[in-house]
Amino acid sequence: MLEHARQILMPATRSDVPPFMVMDVIAAATRAEAAGHRIIHMEVGQPAAPAPRTAIEAARRALDGPLRYTEALGIASLRARIARHYAESCGIELDPARVIVTTGSSAGFILAFLALFEPGDRVGIANPGYPPYRHILKALGCEPVLIETNAASRWAVTPEAVLAAHRKAPLAGLLVASPANPTGTMMTAQALAALVATAEEAGIAFISDEIYHGLDYAFAAQSALRLSQRALVINSFSKYFCMTGWRIGWMVAPEPLVRPIERLQGNLAISVPTLSQIAAEAAFAGRAEMEAVKHGYEDNRRILLDALPKAGLDRFLPVDGAFYLYADVSRFCDDSLAFATRMLEEAHVAATPGIDFDPVNGRRFLRFCYAGSQDEMREAVARIGRWLR
Ligand SMILES: Cc1ncc(COP(=O)(O)O)c(C=O)c1O
Repeated sequence: MLEHARQILMPATRSDVPPFMVMDVIAAATRAEAAGHRIIHMEVGQPAAPAPRTAIEAARRALDGPLRYTEALGIASLRARIARHYAESCGIELDPARVIVTTGSSAGFILAFLALFEPGDRVGIANPGYPPYRHILKALGCEPVLIETNAASRWAVTPEAVLAAHRKAPLAGLLVASPANPTGTMMTAQALAALVATAEEAGIAFISDEIYHGLDYAFAAQSALRLSQRALVINSFSKYFCMTGWRIGWMVAPEPLVRPIERLQGNLAISVPTLSQIAAEAAFAGRAEMEAVKHGYEDNRRILLDALPKAGLDRFLPVDGAFYLYADVSRFCDDSLAFATRMLEEAHVAATPGIDFDPVNGRRFLRFCYAGSQDEMREAVARIGRWLR
């Protein structure tokens, strides 16, 4: 009987995705805090600031209302507001009918992959990259194809590398992010245009994860929407608008995919949380507040760029956007997980080992998130400097 129950409850192989190692770092940091240490958190990739005041007030007002399901594609006024955001921020005229509201960009990936790919399809993603890309693809029966990046291309996927992977066995899709996680690097407008053109010529669907748009410091991030009507763009209120816990994002889909995605979302989720949709629409009126938050990240970036090399960490990738610095620590240790563990225990600074993001070379790297305060950045660098000496 027991054996029978065990067989029935055997998890399906598609559920066998690796955990996010950063969770272990967070747990260790929490234990160290419980033991009385003051930890500087640079491991979690999320803003310290709350959502814009305008969003919070709109949500408070909405709480008294009925908060029913919405249309599967999202509240019409929010979709129109998102479309207007493209006109205001980068001069792109966009039909609101192509805007789909999602439960964070995370749900956007599931919808996009289901709408675009068949089981067994190969989808190219950058290595290093955001781990859930490959885990969601695997859970949906697709094959993530890691495309290696290097310094010569500013750590971006190149047309040559995509075509090489495509020659081995055809790719059905390509997913890139700029600014990227974990590296914080960005593709130039020219590099992105070349990649989109290559994918389209080869018949590869192009997905652009633009979740870190708005958080660009080295040069302006380019939206794939400017380059192609066929690209599928995924975005979120989590990062620029500091709304991670509200679980709200959006996608801009090519017209033929809108109805299939509407059917999927209607079945998978009915609709996105109504309270978060109302808050998200109001968030756009809080852009001045969010720009001030962004200036804080810019200050943090300057502090790290100036002081980290003096503290001993002098090898890192270009610190272009998002709020990440990806440092090569192989000079000190051949296992960045061990390095991160010791740094947490002895310097009380938490950062994320690269193995989460890069199964090939991640043991050489550590990701620092600089979304905290300027005082925390200065203190972190001082602690790391003392610890490395
Ligand atoms: C590159 C990238 N894409 C997507 C996400 C998912 O964000 P959310 O589901 O909160 O929109 C994250 C979260 O850290 C990320 O770093």
